[in-house]
Amino acid sequence: MLIIRNATLVDGRTGIDVHTESGRITAIGVELPVPAGAEVIEAEGWLLSPPFVDPHFHMDATLSYGLPRVNQSGTLLEGIGLWGELKAQLTQEVLAERALQYCDWAVAKGLLSIRTHVDVCDDRLLAVEALLHVKKTVAPYLDLQLVAFPQDGVLRSRTALHNLIRALALGVDVVGGIPHFERTMADGAESVKLLCELAAERGLRVDMHCDESDDPLSRHIETLAFHTQRLGLHGRVTGSHLTSMHSMDNYYVSKLLPLIAEAQVHAVANPLINITLQGRHDSYPKRRGMTRVPELMAAGVNVAFGHDCVMDPWYSLGSGDMLEVAQMGLHVAQMTSQAQMRACFDAVTVNAAKVMGLEGYGIAVGNLADLVLLQARDPVEAIRLRANRLVVVRRGAIVARTPSATAALSLPGRAPSVDWTLRR
Ligand code: FE2
Repeated sequence: MLIIRNATLVDGRTGIDVHTESGRITAIGVELPVPAGAEVIEAEGWLLSPPFVDPHFHMDATLSYGLPRVNQSGTLLEGIGLWGELKAQLTQEVLAERALQYCDWAVAKGLLSIRTHVDVCDDRLLAVEALLHVKKTVAPYLDLQLVAFPQDGVLRSRTALHNLIRALALGVDVVGGIPHFERTMADGAESVKLLCELAAERGLRVDMHCDESDDPLSRHIETLAFHTQRLGLHGRVTGSHLTSMHSMDNYYVSKLLPLIAEAQVHAVANPLINITLQGRHDSYPKRRGMTRVPELMAAGVNVAFGHDCVMDPWYSLGSGDMLEVAQMGLHVAQMTSQAQMRACFDAVTVNAAKVMGLEGYGIAVGNLADLVLLQARDPVEAIRLRANRLVVVRRGAIVARTPSATAALSLPGRAPSVDWTLRR
């Protein structure tokens, strides 16, 4: 039995005790009696949150930065070409080793659920087999959900559809796609139809890279919302990136937003990657490229933020820190009101959990005892400080600890100042 005493919750409640037993939350309240033999964590008023959730990642490419060379142009298309070169050199062992290393980083950062796309455009399905193995290995401490992702286009690549179906048969969870990378807009629309039908037949979820482009006429999200509605896939479909929406005509967007909301299509923005890859063909003014996050939220769409890439052909930085992702999303979308900053925290926790369809997520009696104690007083401070993860709990057991951040100052002309903590 593990007990966290005197925590602050994301909704602002303070002095809260959370009791856990057999992997579940059993009680939440103020000054609850401590049963004999219980392990107690003194939260000292710090913020207790459900763990971070990354709804969009590429674990088959992660930690490969510089292999076989660095992306010189910094564009999405050179990244895709570079990934093609790297793919030919991969082995299951190397891929699994990098993925496991990333999962360790994730747990240390309180990131306990990740939806990763896995490229199925390789007749060997090497990455699929490696990540299925990783999924099983990490299951005791991290939920990994796999998306069958036809990186080279399900219609554009001759064997992609066959391989995607093989990957689903092997146990990959979600149907992916990349309509804006098909040869024509018509092929892109056809791929959306085909993949949604495939998912509907199998009772699976859909998550497509959709309109990851600065082209204001890339409108596959409209087609995705249409087929979601037609096939009754409400709440089970995600449009990832949606960056073309940044550049679309405002009148068209005013029609599009209610269609997305009506179909209950989730939207995932990837702030670090969108701000890095989009607008590369612009001079000045240079577009930010991220989708219209506050407008989607205001229309009632569930919007989450993903990390997308960490040290791979598309992005040279990153550390599995979803607070960094939230901070970038906040800046790029100019979401600076108190409510909007809190919404950015939700985008990497509860909203992302909805995208993945996680059961038992959140701090409530009966839910899974998955928790992260942050060295911050509230969600906004957590984003501002990219707060320390003091304790990470999975199914009622401590899986990671980070020492409290303090600094001892010795400044000329000033009284000694020691044990300065971030609480001030
Ligand atoms: Fe992606």
